[in-house]
Amino acid sequence: MAATVIDGKAFAATVRDKVKTHVTRLVADHGITPGLAVVLVGEDPASQVYVRSKGKMTVEVGMKSVEHKLDVNTSEADLLAVIDQLNNDPEIHGILCQLPLPKYLDEDLIINSISPAKDVDGFHISNVGLLGTGQKSMVPCTPLGCLMMLRDHHGSISGMDAVVVGRSNIVGKPMAQLLLNDSATVTIAHSRTKDLADVVRRADIVVAAVGRPEMIPGDWIKEGATVIDVGINRLDAPEKGEGKTKLVGDVHYESCAARAGAITPVPGGVGPMTIACLLANTVTACCRANGLEELEGLTA
Ligand code: GUN
Repeated sequence: MAATVIDGKAFAATVRDKVKTHVTRLVADHGITPGLAVVLVGEDPASQVYVRSKGKMTVEVGMKSVEHKLDVNTSEADLLAVIDQLNNDPEIHGILCQLPLPKYLDEDLIINSISPAKDVDGFHISNVGLLGTGQKSMVPCTPLGCLMMLRDHHGSISGMDAVVVGRSNIVGKPMAQLLLNDSATVTIAHSRTKDLADVVRRADIVVAAVGRPEMIPGDWIKEGATVIDVGINRLDAPEKGEGKTKLVGDVHYESCAARAGAITPVPGGVGPMTIACLLANTVTACCRANGLEELEGLTA
């Protein structure tokens, strides 16, 4: 049977609609406009695209968007001063420092200088610890988006065998933690895993987050499994014309779709959920800062 294609683009639009409705209510009933600040250091082209897109969508849901674009040679002290000012700004409820930072900056130091309550990326060590102990925290956006799609598709994932391929701090590790918190049986696989094919073949849920184009073939997928592809890899596509490129995920889509019960496409799967969850986290941070009720379904 053909796999159900999980439409992340449509799902992300419903999340943004919920956020927008909640923002409208916060403004009308409490006179509070949630605010998100994005800090970008340097001129990495991909980061510039992401930051522009984040700002546009923040405004579209009725929130305040602030961008701090800093010179590539900005000193650590100057960057820390910008973050300190945002930490103390009552109109800012979420702060995101776009990664990767230029190599000369200490990424851990910068991330941990963001107030945990405003850390809408969920990267601060306090939020990592809270998530790890199953407490209320800010949750990293991409794994949160994956979890929302899994819950929507399965209802409950309790007792399911889940394999996360990839162990990054941004996706793999928090994803595994979220799956565990929802009572899945979780394996984290990585580049040193001995028989990756065998490990993936046992999974009811496969989350691929390795950053290697099409590395998971269809014959590793258990019949009927759910495949969540976090990868976004740009490849040359001479078949589309000279100089053309295409986006592919970390799984080989056609062969995996032939065996899976459900699968997220690339593009249009996990990608759109990341920014939707960033907006959701900002509204959640705003509600918590003001002692107001959070919107159900927008958090882990
Ligand atoms: N760079 C790539 N993905 C992300 C993300 O989710 N958050 C931040 N801050 N930077 C990123």
